[in-house]
Amino acid sequence: MTPDPLPSAHQLLAFYLEAGVDCALAEEPANRLHDPEVAPKEAAKNPASPSLEQARPVRPAFAPAPAMPAEPMPSPDAAIASAREAARTAPSLEALRSLLETFDGCALKSTATRLVFADGNPKARIMFVGEAPGREEDIEGLPFVGRSGKLLDRMIAAIGLDRNAAYIANVIPWRPPGNRTPTPLETQICLPFIQRQIELVDPDILVTLGNPSTQTLLGTRDGIMKTRGRWLNYDTGTRSIRAMATFHPAYLLRSPSYKRMAWQDLRAIAKALAQTTP
Ligand code: URA
Repeated sequence: MTPDPLPSAHQLLAFYLEAGVDCALAEEPANRLHDPEVAPKEAAKNPASPSLEQARPVRPAFAPAPAMPAEPMPSPDAAIASAREAARTAPSLEALRSLLETFDGCALKSTATRLVFADGNPKARIMFVGEAPGREEDIEGLPFVGRSGKLLDRMIAAIGLDRNAAYIANVIPWRPPGNRTPTPLETQICLPFIQRQIELVDPDILVTLGNPSTQTLLGTRDGIMKTRGRWLNYDTGTRSIRAMATFHPAYLLRSPSYKRMAWQDLRAIAKALAQTTP
């Protein structure tokens, strides 16, 4: 049998990226297979085995070891119940942020670099909610600071505003590893926090960006093509907030032909804001 050809450096990097290994831990590469703690023991155990140089690594040499949560994770039901209880009792946005900093019910916290709570003005009349932070957001601790964030800034400018007059958050406040889609359980656990965040900001208009945040917050199973551009209601339990879904900026970057529709949505939002007395 002919052995598979060794992958090229480009293929390996593409594989690492796909697996979520998207940043280097150090400036210089480190060959962990030459780690004296490991190599001599392995070689002594089986002298007939191929040299460590020839052996294929079972784990990428510079992939970070998976972070282990310090405590065992609570059961899904217990995590959702404690998220609800914690979020319900937060009297302010600062308190909510502190609660999230100490909340250990969501496994995403252990793989993310930091909490990505919000950006913008907590007194804003308009609030935008995306899905989950990506790599740049995870590094900076602020939502929408990467490429899609730059487009979101232009979308906000199309309404005649900037980040000082808008509030921006995500349904999920921790980056899922490798930007994978959050699981339904992770979404359920994080939901009470974003619901409380919306309640505390209490905007005149809520804009959900893309399918996941629209379906999660506005309780619809319809796709974004159907939901976008229509006025819906978001019920906080004590008040009804006007809500509109539009395309996620990351989607618009991939499919620029939908920008025309997104800009129609933004015009409708600008008009509604102008008609709502501050
Ligand atoms: N995409 C999101 O949904 N949120 C961010 O913060 C960045 C990218």
